[in-house]
Amino acid sequence: MAAAGAKALALPAGPEQRFQLDADTVAARWTPNTRAVLLASPSNPTGTSIAPGELGRIVTEARARGGLTLVDEIYLGLSYDDRYAHSALALGEDVISINSFSKYFNMTGWRLGWLVVPPTLVAPIEKLQQNLYICASSIAQHAALACFEAESLAVYEQRRQAFRERRDFIVGALNEIGLTVPVMPDGAFYAWADCSRFSNSSWDFCMDLMQQAHVALTPGRDFGPAAAERYLRLSFASSLPQLQEAAARLSRFVST
Ligand SMILES: Cc1ncc(COP(=O)(O)O)c(C=O)c1O
Repeated sequence: MAAAGAKALALPAGPEQRFQLDADTVAARWTPNTRAVLLASPSNPTGTSIAPGELGRIVTEARARGGLTLVDEIYLGLSYDDRYAHSALALGEDVISINSFSKYFNMTGWRLGWLVVPPTLVAPIEKLQQNLYICASSIAQHAALACFEAESLAVYEQRRQAFRERRDFIVGALNEIGLTVPVMPDGAFYAWADCSRFSNSSWDFCMDLMQQAHVALTPGRDFGPAAAERYLRLSFASSLPQLQEAAARLSRFVST
């Protein structure tokens, strides 16, 4: 965005919207200078996806104004609910999908991803990519090819099931502890929990928790200003025994 001289406008989205944009807000906030709307589904930090109907309405609103819809679908492979596990690409050629080998394919740090763009945008994006990165490393590209072997895909599916089990455990545990997760994450490996019962600052809560109970959660402030002190993010990429230990420590921490 900065390379094109564009400015991003962050819009808040609450639990009643699954922490996702809605078409009415997009329409109301669109200005003559607006060129595109960007969302992430499933989202980091909430693990929630946009309802397909709402996404369709957003695409329609953007299209009516000559704009594009960009959807970061990096966690789409890690979906646990068939109602949401659909790529936005089916909605038309004016939808751009952003993806990467970092999450489902477990290649975090290899710096390899992809975009699906309308044919007219291939050349301008190539220019941008050549100036920003030149090219993806050969070793990362060879490793990525191995991701599509049957043996690898079986491992990814096992991991997805393991993440689903961890989600079911940790969301239940957080709700019991009083760190309520207002919307069940349907994808990714994050739970977005409300700590307002225990603190009016998720930053202080996370700091105290880290120093006293040695559990690391991420305060809302890291993800933008909307309700930043109310929420914190838990990553369930850790193993189930680690999550069980974390839940026990969290429970002791909030009761003291
Ligand atoms: C929603 C989302 N998009 C993109 C990325 C960046 O991924 P990559 O490792 O491909 O740069 C992340 C990483 O955490 C993410 O959560």
